[in-house]
Amino acid sequence: MSAEVSPVILRALLPTDVNDTLRWHNDPSLYATLAGTFRPVDRATEEEWLRRVSQPAADAVNLGIVDRSNGALVGCVYLRDLDQDSRSGELHVFIGDSASRGRGLGEAACRAMIRHAFDELGLRRIHLKVLPENVGAIRLYERLGFVRERLEPGAVIKDGAPRDLLVMGMTASAFDFGNKLP
Ligand SMILES: CC(C)(COP(=O)(O)OP(=O)(O)OC[C@H]1O[C@@H](n2cnc3c(N)ncnc32)[C@H](O)[C@@H]1OP(=O)(O)O)[C@@H](O)C(=O)NCCC(=O)NCCS
Repeated sequence: MSAEVSPVILRALLPTDVNDTLRWHNDPSLYATLAGTFRPVDRATEEEWLRRVSQPAADAVNLGIVDRSNGALVGCVYLRDLDQDSRSGELHVFIGDSASRGRGLGEAACRAMIRHAFDELGLRRIHLKVLPENVGAIRLYERLGFVRERLEPGAVIKDGAPRDLLVMGMTASAFDFGNKLP
């Protein structure tokens, strides 16, 4: 088995990330592709949010995605709603600026987080929610081992209209651990 170096490094979010995360949280075009609701935020709210998500928590892992080639923060990947009873959690990922997309960084970040979830946190199942129209993201999730499970009708409001969300899920047995990345 050949050892490959991941193109990303996952690290805790820092107060100094505020310029990047504030730009992303205020970008309606990014939120148009995300399952979450767009809520523009001011700098003080963003700083408070960064303080909160950078603290260790029992029910969440919130990490920044760093491009190993230049050290720049390019996005975020989260495991949320970690449940110790069912040993499950929900994956969220985005690459914030369009210029950094399509370069393999999102896939590498997901692989690293999923491996952490199964290998170290002891999860047995990960799920996620995605807009059914986000075919690029769905193709990526299927390549990682997620399967389409069900539609949640009208689960989110976008541009004033209810939109469905697709729930996808994966158990550890469906994940390819073969390509271990340092
Ligand atoms: C979806 C996303 C995380 C993928 O990360 P990425 O680094 O751009 O993608 P990668 O280079 O690792 O490529 C993996 C797959 O992502 C998809 N992808 C690539 N570029 C993309 C782009 N600009 N927009 C959306 N999906 C893209 C493709 O399906 C690609 O697979 P393919 O090569 O078979 O076409 C990233 O494009 C993104 O954050 N997009 C906007 C927000 C979003 O849709 N997040 C997911 C919400 S559930």
